[in-house]
Amino acid sequence: MRLADLETPALILDAAKMRANIARMNAAARRHGVMLRPHLKTGKSVEVAKAMTAGWPGAVTVSTLKEADRFFAAGFRDILYAVGIAPNKLAHAARLTREGCVLTLILDSLEAAEMVAAFGRENGVTLPALIEIDSDDHRAGVGPDDAATLAAIATALTDGAELRGVMTHGGGSYNSTTEEGLAAHAELERSGAVRAAENLRAAGFACPVVSVGSTPTALFARNLDGVTELRVGVYVFHDLVMAGLGVCAVEDVAVGVLASVIGHQAARGQLIIDAGWMAMSRDRGTQGQQVDQGYGLVCDAGGRALGDLIVASANQEHGIVARRDGGPLDVARFPVGTLLRVLPNHSCATAAQHGEYQVVDGGDAIVGTWQRFGGW
Ligand SMILES: Cc1ncc(COP(=O)(O)O)c(C=O)c1O
Repeated sequence: MRLADLETPALILDAAKMRANIARMNAAARRHGVMLRPHLKTGKSVEVAKAMTAGWPGAVTVSTLKEADRFFAAGFRDILYAVGIAPNKLAHAARLTREGCVLTLILDSLEAAEMVAAFGRENGVTLPALIEIDSDDHRAGVGPDDAATLAAIATALTDGAELRGVMTHGGGSYNSTTEEGLAAHAELERSGAVRAAENLRAAGFACPVVSVGSTPTALFARNLDGVTELRVGVYVFHDLVMAGLGVCAVEDVAVGVLASVIGHQAARGQLIIDAGWMAMSRDRGTQGQQVDQGYGLVCDAGGRALGDLIVASANQEHGIVARRDGGPLDVARFPVGTLLRVLPNHSCATAAQHGEYQVVDGGDAIVGTWQRFGGW
């Protein structure tokens, strides 16, 4: 099978690019002497998970309990569920724990800590947990210097749960476009997590785990002293948002949607393709960046960018391809049936629209079909 034998739209994964992305992150983690706990939410695929964990102990991060189920069934035992826990998920978490999964939860309030501990006491399970730290005002978390709240949460977790440490996600880095800015975000993330851990230790609590991570901070950190593990996900495929930040090159983006030209609007300088927002997702993550890539950057079938052609607008199953500047386009170069590969703004979101990866390895031969899953 070759790309030309596929029915479009189809999600293409270039394994050669994926391996290079993985090697780069592995080298960063090794340079800093920290364990990699890859985040599996981007790939949601056992094959991708195995490639990301090769050479590491096999500890992973997930964003849904369905991922925890699937990856536990595939042999991963040490799983961090890195989204704040809700009461209606505790029975599910307890089931996985009883089956032998070391499932660690995260929480950032006394209320949640008391809820988890009470559930543990009432149900005879001990649920391990990390306290989420807000290191850069990005999202959730306890302030690193809020020693009183940290100690109160840690105290609440002593019976029915087990405090394992702290975690933070330097998501503020997704708005930083310079090497200095990315390095500064990495230091905010590191120092926030380490200060929170030190506050807990000073109050008498063991805090063995200091977990940080986002792809930009992990790749641009200059020092990870005091950190024990890195949680990173999108690096495995990268995407146009990461390229727009300068975290990777456009050529590093390992996933793209293969689409066919299905028509033209010659006077408007537009091609119509069979990949609209259903195939690309609605994610417009590059809209606020210096280069707006529309709904995706248009490449030839082999993945080489065609100048400044983008999916300028999208309906459910139609993508409208035009030059980024709206200038004229010789549509005769793209007869009906021409295959194009569209690189995504956000690979997690685009991959989520598809049920499988058609895997190539640098060329146009399909070397495998890997299943992926969605939902909760
Ligand atoms: C809690 C948490 N940790 C780690 C990550 C990994 O970040 P990235 O995909 O930038 O590597 C994410 C991403 O959303 C996250 O939410």
